[in-house]
Amino acid sequence: MNALKENMNVPQHIAIIMDGNGRWAKQHNKSRIEGHKKGAQQIKKVLDGARKFGVKYITLYAFSSENWNRPKVEVSALMHLLEKSIKANEKDFIKNEVRFETIGDISALPSYCQKAIAKIKKSTQHFNKQTLILALNYGSRDEITRVVKKLITSAENNEISSKDITWECIQQNLDTAHIPDPDLIIRTSGEKRLSNYLMLQAAYAEFYFTDILWPDFDEQHLHDAIQEYANRERRYGLTSEQIQKQC
Ligand code: IPE
Ligand code: IPE
Ligand code: MG
Repeated sequence: MNALKENMNVPQHIAIIMDGNGRWAKQHNKSRIEGHKKGAQQIKKVLDGARKFGVKYITLYAFSSENWNRPKVEVSALMHLLEKSIKANEKDFIKNEVRFETIGDISALPSYCQKAIAKIKKSTQHFNKQTLILALNYGSRDEITRVVKKLITSAENNEISSKDITWECIQQNLDTAHIPDPDLIIRTSGEKRLSNYLMLQAAYAEFYFTDILWPDFDEQHLHDAIQEYANRERRYGLTSEQIQKQC
């Protein structure tokens, strides 16, 4: 494992689209569910690696608002795997002072998942060394729909008017209100799309696509992604010359 160079520009927040569990399973003559199990095991490795490299926030796309449309047995296995993984990792999170958060509408998850989530959120809420955010029943279109509904209700109750609607106001009502925007978005498995993930938050994120399937993605692959990120120039609409002057 190569160490990261000193003074390297490490992303504060990495968001990952953990894709390719099904294709990994097929390659290994296993069931899709076995693929998800192997995928779930990678999470700890990647989190440990991220902590070592100094990445404060990691958001993982675990279940999209569209994934409910998968075969019932797969959805059910994913929900049970979620509960099991949360319970299995709670001690480790406490030991490493990792705060656990979620984005997405978790009220639609089975109650046994909601219980496990509530418990780990409570037992890790005071930590701020590293934050793991799981995107569960998450989709940007659902997120913005919920924001619009909330703001209209506030307007109907005369709590806000149209002049209060600024980007900051919208941002403060997103699921990610207390989390900085992702600096780097990684998608595994060769697909090059967002699939309804953090569409507003990704406005100025850097993207990194790799053919590695999620169950094979490890600390070294994370290292490679961070190294490539460090060589990018983020301009936010300015010219390269303006950016150089700021440095
Ligand atoms: C990602 O792997 C995990 C979830 C979406 C829950 P996939 O299950 O999408 O794997 P592929 O895309 O079929 O290989
Ligand atoms: C996105 O992957 C969702 C997760 C990784 C949880 P999908 O496999 O569901 O995305 P599409 O369907 O290929 O766009
Ligand atoms: Mg997929």
